[in-house]
Amino acid sequence: MHPKKLLLTIVLSSILFRGFADEGMWLPLLLGEQVYNDMVKKGLKLTKEQLYSINKASLKDAIIIFGRGCTGEIVSSEGLIFTNHHCGYEAIASSSSIEHNYLHDGFYAKSQKEEIPARGLYVDFLVKIDDVTKEVEDSAKGLSGDQRAAKLRTVLAVINTRYSDSSRSITGRVSPLFKGNQFLVFVYQRYNDIRLVGAPPESIGKFGGDTDNWEWPRHTGDFSIFRVYMGKNGQPADYSPEDIPLKPKYFLPVSLKGLKDGDYSMIYGYPGSTNRYETSYGVKQKIDIDNPTLVKLRDLRLKYMFAEMRKDPAIKLQLGSSYASIANYWKFFDGESKQLIKYDIYDQKKTQEASFQQWAQDKPEFEHVFSDWAKAYDDWRPYSKHRVFLAEGIFGSPLMAFAASLQEVENALVKPGGGDIKKALRMAGEARKNFLKDENRASDQNILAAVTQLYYTDIDKNQHPIGFYEALKANFGDLQDENTYKKYAASVFSSTLLFDDTRWNTFIAQPDATILQNDPAYKQANAFQRNWQGKYQSDYQQFFNTNMELGRLYLKGILQMDPKKVRYPDATFTMRVSYGNVKSYSPRDAVHYDYVTTLKGVLEKYVPGDYEFDLPPGLVELAKKKDFGQYIDRQRNDLVVGFITTNDITGGNSGSPVLNANGELIGLAFDGNYEALSHKIAFDAQYNRTICVDIRYVLWCIDKLGGAPNIVNELKLLKTAAPVK
Ligand code: ARG
Repeated sequence: MHPKKLLLTIVLSSILFRGFADEGMWLPLLLGEQVYNDMVKKGLKLTKEQLYSINKASLKDAIIIFGRGCTGEIVSSEGLIFTNHHCGYEAIASSSSIEHNYLHDGFYAKSQKEEIPARGLYVDFLVKIDDVTKEVEDSAKGLSGDQRAAKLRTVLAVINTRYSDSSRSITGRVSPLFKGNQFLVFVYQRYNDIRLVGAPPESIGKFGGDTDNWEWPRHTGDFSIFRVYMGKNGQPADYSPEDIPLKPKYFLPVSLKGLKDGDYSMIYGYPGSTNRYETSYGVKQKIDIDNPTLVKLRDLRLKYMFAEMRKDPAIKLQLGSSYASIANYWKFFDGESKQLIKYDIYDQKKTQEASFQQWAQDKPEFEHVFSDWAKAYDDWRPYSKHRVFLAEGIFGSPLMAFAASLQEVENALVKPGGGDIKKALRMAGEARKNFLKDENRASDQNILAAVTQLYYTDIDKNQHPIGFYEALKANFGDLQDENTYKKYAASVFSSTLLFDDTRWNTFIAQPDATILQNDPAYKQANAFQRNWQGKYQSDYQQFFNTNMELGRLYLKGILQMDPKKVRYPDATFTMRVSYGNVKSYSPRDAVHYDYVTTLKGVLEKYVPGDYEFDLPPGLVELAKKKDFGQYIDRQRNDLVVGFITTNDITGGNSGSPVLNANGELIGLAFDGNYEALSHKIAFDAQYNRTICVDIRYVLWCIDKLGGAPNIVNELKLLKTAAPVK
């Protein structure tokens, strides 16, 4: 490209960038004047101190990490938590039985005594954030590549320990930002006594199912309610009936005032990951290989799981949570590829890389970045499908995943100094318990047959584990024939010792490596795993490390190229704030999407008895009576169910509070829209929307439909309109 043209592109893209005001997952600690002023310009009525302060109670004190990958918020002085239904799903399902099926029927505790301990669940409060970049950089001065990575591991561990205090359940976790160009330590306090307070029936909490997932217009009441408890001494404690509700530093007031198109909206939470500085090579590999492979393998696993879940509500309770998470990203990655292609993200990346290359000319630290990157991808590309096939295919069979974990046991038994045998056996026993609790044999056996066949046909023959398919052919028949794999899987499932308590206990009592090595389930898991470990793992590690190192240099260069530009770091499951507006949009020619959905739309989608579009008893009657109480939207004379905003969020933000200009809760964020599924890599200012459930619908479901006004009475409600009689 001609340099003049290039300059023009750079100028143009920075002009365009100014329009991208709603893009950004900002660190509340480092908002900066420019971003804060922009928030105010958009309508924010709060001071910086009210957004984030370590001295005074501020909004950040009401925002928590909820479990392993969600956000929650504190909404009462008694530690009440709101989050999404899909975030509480596992806790709701495991509190349920066929007799008390809270997943299906819903559940609301009428008093604190009725709340159900959610074992294994925890929440983290953010105590503070410190910038430790200087300390990290000083210690890694002059190092690069593997040496730098090794040094960082030690330094970060030292910092984490310094910030931690296990007696108060406090942990420091350094997060490398801008691909390792900035280091912040996030200090959290963890609470383990979490109890289920309420959840709507699944027909509300997951209304629309996977058909509506990642789509607007949406009518899902995606909320659930928990409470955090502490010990009598005011410190975090394990579950005990003696524990008392947490007295939070701050909790969110709730607005019943409603919203208009264009209103300010702000979302706090824990976005998990984005890769906005992904390269053109990465985009291409995703579109060509990674995403389609994952989608194909998940398609098949979901099909077999669903077939069993449909038949039996007990299996639905057992598999439902795992099914939902597989399905969620099955649809996501399929849509991601489509949108990456539609918006020409590959070409956009190429253009950005060309301008970087231009700038990097004659700068020894940077000029090699993209040629090295091209080579790293070229070297790895032939094996990338194999990797997805293991993670999503072979080890997508729960039996295979569990069997593979037993490699620790084999290593301990056969290798001199291979490890602590007792410990390996104890951990294997734990892993087996967890495996059996969630195991549905019928679907797993079908999955194993299908993925074993697909691996045979889809993966380059010279990458196969040596001897595996030859033996399979000798014992079970033609490798082109589906029935061969079915017979094989049936034989694995009927003859492995992993399901058999007696044989398992004998093995644990007298561990013998040959017994494990001859077990058909272990044999397959081990063959595929060792094949990977022996032939590809170190190449993959190399590819991964190179990617990290080049990513760091690329970002370092970008920051130098344009030092004045205000940037936000990629999401790293650390607290962020995003601001934007409630906003309607036009997804395609001649189609306009309103910014809210209403109960009228819920009724329009209703299909009695349907797996995804059924409704709970009582809802239709209440809706017909228009019994909306104080939750009514007067302008529409209906209930507002969902709304959309321009906020920049991603997975991990689920359950996040959506706040108005005064910092009052107006909804819970629970999804992104289909038109912007490329958002992890490229934010689209025109199409990106966050999908939220309106807090008034949440409260109506609890109070009117669920008959639990006790929960609503705990909240601090802010209303303008007089309540309807
Ligand atoms: N797409 C939502 C998210 O990632 C999860 C929705 C769960 N619902 C479902 N039908 N699988 O936050």
